[in-house]
Amino acid sequence: MGHFGDYQNEIYLNGTRGVLPRWPVDFATLEARAAAALSPDVLNYVQGGCGDEHTQDENARAFRRWGMVPRMMVDCTARDLSIDLFGLKLPTPVFMAPIGVTGLATQDRHGDRAAARAAAMTGVPLVASTLSNDPLETVARDMGDTPGFFQLYTPKNPDLAASLVARAEAAGYKAIVVTLDTWVTGWRPRDLNTANFPQLRGAVLMNYFADPVFQRLLGKSPADAPAEAIGLWASLFGKVLTWDDIGWLRSLTRLPIVLKGICHPDDARRAVDAGIDGIYCSNHGGRQANGGIAAIDMLADVVAASGEVPVLFDSGVRSGSDVVKALAMGARAVGVGRPYFYGLAIGGAEGAVHVLKSILAEADLMMAVNGCPTIAALRAEGVRRTAG
Ligand code: FNR
Repeated sequence: MGHFGDYQNEIYLNGTRGVLPRWPVDFATLEARAAAALSPDVLNYVQGGCGDEHTQDENARAFRRWGMVPRMMVDCTARDLSIDLFGLKLPTPVFMAPIGVTGLATQDRHGDRAAARAAAMTGVPLVASTLSNDPLETVARDMGDTPGFFQLYTPKNPDLAASLVARAEAAGYKAIVVTLDTWVTGWRPRDLNTANFPQLRGAVLMNYFADPVFQRLLGKSPADAPAEAIGLWASLFGKVLTWDDIGWLRSLTRLPIVLKGICHPDDARRAVDAGIDGIYCSNHGGRQANGGIAAIDMLADVVAASGEVPVLFDSGVRSGSDVVKALAMGARAVGVGRPYFYGLAIGGAEGAVHVLKSILAEADLMMAVNGCPTIAALRAEGVRRTAG
């Protein structure tokens, strides 16, 4: 049976024929290449975060303060990175986190579809954002046999919320990921200094413009009245959700519901008590609050509070080693964010595939050399806090 780590052999063997990899395997070079490929506005929007960006930097840096102790004399010739999630058997513990400007990652402005094709090619699920340049139905079709999840920015209008969820269910998405931390946009100096907010320029609103309830509220076709359509979108974005809304959310769908943005163990416990199917520990990549605490430093407490309910994690994942550490800390699945966006920017769907394969290869090889052939073994081994 093949392993994700075999991607390394492929690269070295190509080298013996004089063929070098088209794209870098490390995050720093990847980001630099993407920076050269993207327009300044899109780059700022994606690369930037809140305030002085301390939290987003800390998200990545904090992984360095956690380490694994290698175990020897363990047969790791066969390794298993597959997971069960919401009744699905997934070949990898990695997924693509929702990124609302994925549509702008590629030159043709169909980056959402490219991400979906990357999901189809790798088996790595995509959490498709509400903010999309292509309707969620098209994105779902491009995912092929790989399951996808739909991320909901809950609109203030309940009929529109119900319509988006019903469309996602009909299109075959396997879970609804409700993002809690973004009913209002955090303070983002890079975007403010350039007065750039893509949605207000009409980008990534196709899920709304294609929606029958949105069209009814607008009273005309969004194509005939783009400025009015954007205005309506802005007036509807960002319902403030409270615990009282859980019953209503539940009434919208039979799909599993995941709450994204949970960092406090008490919130995790409350969500579990309310019957939520998945907890998604994330601080939005440091884009919402410049709070200072790295998401990975909150993961263990959230996992402990969530009991049997699966915990998804993202924020600061830059490598396979980060994935393995998050799994060892108890995450069921680990989200890659900015890295796959940069892959799309430099190589479209194939660039994202390369990024995902590189991350999976490193994760697989790290398990091999650390003596952990399974995720259960990783969890049993755990991580240690280091001085650095
Ligand atoms: C995001 N994120 C996000 N989250 C979400 O629930 N819906 C969305 O539409 C978006 N949009 C979005 C745009 C951009 C440009 C970024 C970088 C992020 C947050 C995303 O799902 C994830 O939490 C972060 O990307 C994790 O941080 P890192 O690892 O990418 O730094």
